[in-house]
Amino acid sequence: MPKLTVDGIGEFEVPAGKRLVLALKEEANVDQLHACGGNARCTTCRVDIIAGEPQTISAAEKTTLEARGLTDVRLSCQVLCDQDMTVKAISRLEGSGRSDCGSDPTPEMQPQPVEWVEK
Ligand code: FES
Repeated sequence: MPKLTVDGIGEFEVPAGKRLVLALKEEANVDQLHACGGNARCTTCRVDIIAGEPQTISAAEKTTLEARGLTDVRLSCQVLCDQDMTVKAISRLEGSGRSDCGSDPTPEMQPQPVEWVEK
């Protein structure tokens, strides 16, 4: 099982292929935001990947990051835990002023069909 290290929080074994947003919530117990429910639209699920960043990216994530002018972050709803990774949780409910983290992301990547492209 891949190891997920969350800076300042701990290390966690994660089922291979699990969406990072769900691993942050369920394994690491992080109050990770995911306002659009894991559909690559809101960017509140953004994380800083310190090590082990996947070199592929979904076309949906790439389009959204480019549209918002975001660099050096990844959308945790669009990243699968298929290798060891170290991340910093930079978009959390605490301090956000929001009332909740957002609707629950599905276990499967959204939007479907997923098109993987080079980062
Ligand atoms: S972009 Fe909205 S939850 Fe990932």
